[in-house]
Amino acid sequence: MNYLVPSILSADFCELGTQLDIIGKSSVEHLHVDIMDGMFVPSISFGMPVLECVRKRTDLFLDVHMMVERPERYVDEFMRLGADGITIHVEACDCIYKTLEHIRSLGGKRGIAINPETPIEHAFPYVEHVDMVLVMTVHPGFGGQSYIPECYDKIRSIRSEINKRGLPVDVEIDGGVRLENLKRNLDVGANMIVTGSAVFKGDIENNIKVFLSRMKQEA
Ligand code: DX5
Ligand code: ZN
Repeated sequence: MNYLVPSILSADFCELGTQLDIIGKSSVEHLHVDIMDGMFVPSISFGMPVLECVRKRTDLFLDVHMMVERPERYVDEFMRLGADGITIHVEACDCIYKTLEHIRSLGGKRGIAINPETPIEHAFPYVEHVDMVLVMTVHPGFGGQSYIPECYDKIRSIRSEINKRGLPVDVEIDGGVRLENLKRNLDVGANMIVTGSAVFKGDIENNIKVFLSRMKQEA
């Protein structure tokens, strides 16, 4: 199953509630929530109070992407505030198995993310222990960047590893996704499509409609 996952990093934060309502009326089921600590990535995004407000405003699945050093420090708090899934970076955590198990024990979906420069094989040991692998298709930290084409091979490779093992694991991509490269990403095996600027810039309702209809055509 393919899903469109809008990333609120590109939202207008003065209008966040209204923009969440627009997404809530569409047939989108997930919302991507980017947490940045200014250490793992150069930028700082937002944290607990914003997650808490978003949770109060929407029933959408909150897919929390932790671009944070030692994310294990925050799992309890983010789950308490309403995350439905937490994704940690393979590059950021020294106790990955334990942290994934902790997320699961709190009822969350577990994700492992991998940066563009990290070989995809570094995610292989975790595929039996996650619900999703997130392949970063830009260098994490900012919205609106250009897709890194070397990532197509990484997506193909993780999808084939997951299929080989017969696992029900999603492959999410994040960064630089536009209508123009959507089909190629679906073709190589991505099924959770994070989009920030491509959804939030301009007419959100219409952007979502166009993306969803393209995704349906490609299914
Ligand atoms: C980047 C974030 C992305 C970002 C994607 O570090 O993880 O989720 O919002 O934005 P676009 O789709 O504009 O590249
Ligand atoms: Zn993200």
